[in-house]
Amino acid sequence: MNEIITTKKMKELDECIERNKMKKGPLMPTLQDAQRIFGCVPKEVQEHIGKKLNESYAKIKGVVSFYTMFSTKPKGKHIVGVCTGTACYVKGAQKLVDKVCEVLKIPYGETTKDGLFTIAPTRCVGNCGEAPVVMIDEDQYGRVTIDQIEEILNKYK
Ligand code: FES
Repeated sequence: MNEIITTKKMKELDECIERNKMKKGPLMPTLQDAQRIFGCVPKEVQEHIGKKLNESYAKIKGVVSFYTMFSTKPKGKHIVGVCTGTACYVKGAQKLVDKVCEVLKIPYGETTKDGLFTIAPTRCVGNCGEAPVVMIDEDQYGRVTIDQIEEILNKYK
């Protein structure tokens, strides 16, 4: 057990599994419950669900990786996305990605220890005229320069 998978959360999951077992396709609702309860669906939880629902781990792993609503690692409170679509890339998105990683002290795709930020891979967000674009949750920032990154992130602390 770790801080993500606690006995209390496992008990809640088991209750959901029992309820979902009465449904026709119990796997999807159970994975949705797990994502809600744990904030992600780690390997141990996938294996547990597999045993309870008589499904193979391979199948569950496939479903979890296919649907973007599921993640295997917990996501932060704020999702930081530096658009790396072509227009943004040409306008220096990679330098912005490097700066975000440097300021948050985490690699691309990871979550800060305090659970505040996750750097998420982001493709064209449809605002190429404002490239390079940075997204924080639903907020969009256009024509972002390296010097602005820290200031933008500070707004969400
Ligand atoms: S490529 Fe970044 S908004 Fe389109």
